Amino acid sequence: MSESESDGAEFDEQPAALGVKVGSTRTVVSAGDANDPNVVRTLTCLATYEDALTGEEHVLYGEEAATEYPDRVRYMLRSGLPEDEETTDLAKTFLEEFARSNGLPEDSVVVYAIPTIDNDVGLERLSEIIEDGPIGERLVRSYPESLCGAVPALGDGLEAIEETFVAVNMGSTNLEACAYRRGEQLAPFSTGAITGTEVDRRIANYVEEETQGRVNIDLTTAREYKEEHADFLDYEPFSDIIQQPGGGTYEFTIEESVMDAVDEYVDDAVDEVANVFMPELANDYMKIYQQALDNPVVLTGGMACIPGVVDEFEQRLSEELERDVTATTADDPATAAARGAHRIAGRLVELNEY
Ligand SMILES: Nc1ncnc2c1ncn2[C@@H]1O[C@H](COP(=O)(O)OP(=O)(O)OP(=O)(O)O)[C@@H](O)[C@H]1O
Ligand SMILES: [Mg+2]
Repeated sequence: MSESESDGAEFDEQPAALGVKVGSTRTVVSAGDANDPNVVRTLTCLATYEDALTGEEHVLYGEEAATEYPDRVRYMLRSGLPEDEETTDLAKTFLEEFARSNGLPEDSVVVYAIPTIDNDVGLERLSEIIEDGPIGERLVRSYPESLCGAVPALGDGLEAIEETFVAVNMGSTNLEACAYRRGEQLAPFSTGAITGTEVDRRIANYVEEETQGRVNIDLTTAREYKEEHADFLDYEPFSDIIQQPGGGTYEFTIEESVMDAVDEYVDDAVDEVANVFMPELANDYMKIYQQALDNPVVLTGGMACIPGVVDEFEQRLSEELERDVTATTADDPATAAARGAHRIAGRLVELNEY
């Protein structure tokens, strides 16, 4: 976490480089020195309230909005992309507030990590948000999220943009897979059926079953259980306490629910990658398929944070494909796309591409 010193006129003239990922659950910005960045992560949500004195409308975003106004907080990218004009406007306001309160420089070259979803209207709305956004006065570019997320996974520079490999992005609303050849995306595939959000839903259902119907948790709690406890290497059953409707508290322990749900997720993801995506890639680009699988499959996205998930994925994918493949991920996959985007932005500044 560094503070950059600008002690020469030469440096002052260069715009700042920023990497941004606006995700359905969280927004991540990587700023400062791309080799030792300042990373800020916040919930992608917004709430407004009226000033008690002046009647003016004020805006809150992120954790503050979620905790103080749970009754009317809006997650405007719930499904991954803005769905209509209203959520597009909310997302613009969110980005403005976020940029302002984090002091993100207008005079900047910004790379956005964006999803690969087959939804042209949604993607157009997203690029409208980006284009109208408060940062990136010099240049705004977007690159696929899984390419950005692969950048910190494959080296200290931009090796990901020179190589041929398969990336699998494990997000909250989509599972995406594609091959990259020098940054070019081949055979892009995505499905909304295998997702982090679906895992949260299953955890909620399984918790109800495991507690014989006594405990109903909401999806936020289910997500928190997953993020705090899911672990393929070293899972520890954990306890929680609920307030009972009639009064009193009820303490329960979760042995199976979380790991059952993430275990099924990995099976489903491997099945989809091995039996739907890979055959398409092999069919369209046989040589690339062979070359790509000589390199590690890069897992990106927040679900790749689960300890041990990479080895599980690697083993199960090898079994399914009946050949040895390896898998890898960045340290802290949840922020990797923003950090990778930041590195790309830094390179664009160096190359004077603005
Ligand atoms: N430490 C963690 N352990 C387990 N799961 C995590 C962790 N951190 C994030 N996740 C999960 O990863 C998902 C978010 O991933 P990511 O940030 O890549 O999604 P997104 O880009 O917002 O979604 P999408 O691209 O699918 O629209 C959520 O389901 C979240 O709960
Ligand atoms: Mg994503």
